[in-house]
Amino acid sequence: MAADVDALKAEAGIAAAAFVKDGMKVGLGTGSTVKYTVIELGRRVSEGLDIVGVPTSIETERLAKQVGIPLRELGSLDGLDIVIDGADEFDPQLQLIKGGGGALLREKIVAQSAAAMIVVADDRKKVETLGAFSLPIEVTPFSWQETKRQIERLFSCPCVLRTLGGESVRLGDVVVEGGPFVTDNGNLIIDLHCGASIDNPRASEVALLSLAGVCEVGLFIDICDLVIMAADDGIQTFSKADSRL
Ligand code: A5P
Repeated sequence: MAADVDALKAEAGIAAAAFVKDGMKVGLGTGSTVKYTVIELGRRVSEGLDIVGVPTSIETERLAKQVGIPLRELGSLDGLDIVIDGADEFDPQLQLIKGGGGALLREKIVAQSAAAMIVVADDRKKVETLGAFSLPIEVTPFSWQETKRQIERLFSCPCVLRTLGGESVRLGDVVVEGGPFVTDNGNLIIDLHCGASIDNPRASEVALLSLAGVCEVGLFIDICDLVIMAADDGIQTFSKADSRL
């Protein structure tokens, strides 16, 4: 019988925690898979593990505090030893789509400061070509409709402003039904729906980042060293050719 997805997430998340050793400065990712890593690290801290954590979102900061992981601000540290995070998709080169939870900007800042990155995932996240999961793009609220049009012109694909499904909210001269999703940085998220067709993720990232209204793109290129993936038949790992781990 197929294992419950949450059980797979827990398996991958807990397995990744084994890479964390005494004295490490650890980036703590965001999402429903890496939350198991955070909980496991909290358990080990209560048994004496000596680490400091840097959370990638307010949500993870709350959880890390709850489970007793000592936290520091990234700016007060000279880089991190490791970051463990989830992903929405990973391809055979370990290029990623992230940002399903809207934390992509902080996640990328933290990942770029770490000496190595581990991704934890269940097997639904493994793809041949990125893009079936819509690509999250963090944009400034200023003239977001214009940024959205520019993205649509670049990719000839539909874009949708991410909403919360709550009360409608006026943004400039537009009423956003359901209210906009606002990131921890006060920005908006546009999700780009282009199907599994991002065959050159590096070029897509560069093109999107050239737009002034784009703050960050959920494409994580050449940054993931190891994916720990849980499937019904156990854990599988995928390592980058020049992995730093
Ligand atoms: C948060 O913004 C994302 O990048 C998550 O890391 C990603 O969406 C994976 O989340 P789950 O583990 O909840 O699928």
